[in-house]
Amino acid sequence: MSEIVYLNGSLIPRSQAQISALDYGFLYGYGLFETMRAYEGQVFRLDNHLRRLADSAEVLGLPIGTLDLKKAIMDTIQANQLSDARIRVAISLGEGETVPDPSTCKKPTVLILAGDYQPYPEEVYQKGFRVVVSSIHRNSGSPLSRLKSANYLDSLLARKEARTAGANEAICLNEKGFLAEASMSNIFLVTNGILRTPGQESGILPGITRETILELAPPLGINSLEDNIRLDELSQAQEAFLTNSLIEVMPLIEMDGKPVGSGTPGPLTQKLLTAYRELVRTGE
Ligand SMILES: Cc1ncc(COP(=O)(O)O)c(C=O)c1O
Repeated sequence: MSEIVYLNGSLIPRSQAQISALDYGFLYGYGLFETMRAYEGQVFRLDNHLRRLADSAEVLGLPIGTLDLKKAIMDTIQANQLSDARIRVAISLGEGETVPDPSTCKKPTVLILAGDYQPYPEEVYQKGFRVVVSSIHRNSGSPLSRLKSANYLDSLLARKEARTAGANEAICLNEKGFLAEASMSNIFLVTNGILRTPGQESGILPGITRETILELAPPLGINSLEDNIRLDELSQAQEAFLTNSLIEVMPLIEMDGKPVGSGTPGPLTQKLLTAYRELVRTGE
């Protein structure tokens, strides 16, 4: 079956999906996206993803208020007969004049892609991710750091550095030298038994998985703290992990070739991964 995509109100085969050459998403990166994961046909924390998208759209002045994105997403999942899936919603300001003038864009472009999701095999979770420290910094003063915007080049270039070094992910500091996040995930570490993650003011995308982990920690008896974290605190951490909607909770076991903690997935990481996986199956 050929993949069906949602484009501007219609469900059509991917091969027929076309977007204007004068789309401001293409010309100027004027747009947003969301990546979500569905378990047995249900998107985990769909409302939270849509709220983040709506809040971000307001920052950029993207008029998406009237769109029924929830229905469009569910229709796309059903049209592709998917159960465990990755869903990507991309919205741009739409077509406008060649000279950069956002007021000439009259209608946003909305594209939804949904495909089968093959998670990393369990061995990868047992082994954990190796990371490098990227030369690319997050700018805590830029609104773009907090948005999942079509300006994703910093992340792609940081990820390229990781690949070149034979690592799985790249860690980005902010311009003040504090830990921000990884190229495509948020970061957590454990210091003296306390779960810590960089605060929102450090220039991170406020991840839906990050938010879920911060909710899951207290009932498990884990104290958590959002604060400024130095890089040496990560190298000296008892354990660390990365989060995003697709990888869920991935142990981080090595940084720049040196072990983090014991160099194996830590006990709090395991506990939180188990709790997260229980939660996604209940769909709460
Ligand atoms: C830069 C960045 N930070 C954090 C995340 C994690 O966000 P979420 O947990 O909402 O998937 C992502 C997700 O892709 C990301 O691209």
